[in-house]
Amino acid sequence: MVHAELAENWGLKALARHLKAHTITEMRHAERHMERILFLEGFPEVSRIGEIRIGKNVEEILFKDYEGEVQAVKGYNETMNLAQRLGDNGTREMIAEILKDEEAHVDWLETQRELLSRMGLPAYLQYLAGEFSE
Ligand SMILES: [Fe+2]
Repeated sequence: MVHAELAENWGLKALARHLKAHTITEMRHAERHMERILFLEGFPEVSRIGEIRIGKNVEEILFKDYEGEVQAVKGYNETMNLAQRLGDNGTREMIAEILKDEEAHVDWLETQRELLSRMGLPAYLQYLAGEFSE
């Protein structure tokens, strides 16, 4: 969410639009996790989330978000394996759906990092500032 606001403040409309969409997806994931934890009679310990890594420029944003998404994919794969071992297919299926969203985020960030590498920063920033980039 911070990265989306930074991108908007820098006039990078396309980047802001994508990062806001990712943020909304992540909020829906958090909601589903909390609902599942409560269903399983647990308590959502939201105060124990990990470090929030904020980039100070576009390259850092893409790198830090990419690292976070790769970590999320790894964690969801581990959680799916654990749920499978425990015979908790409801959790396993929920995580499988979330995992697909996270893989799509990784894919998008990989594409952006590749575009940045091929275009160079000035052209890539111009691309991000436009309305045309999807
Ligand atoms: Fe994500």
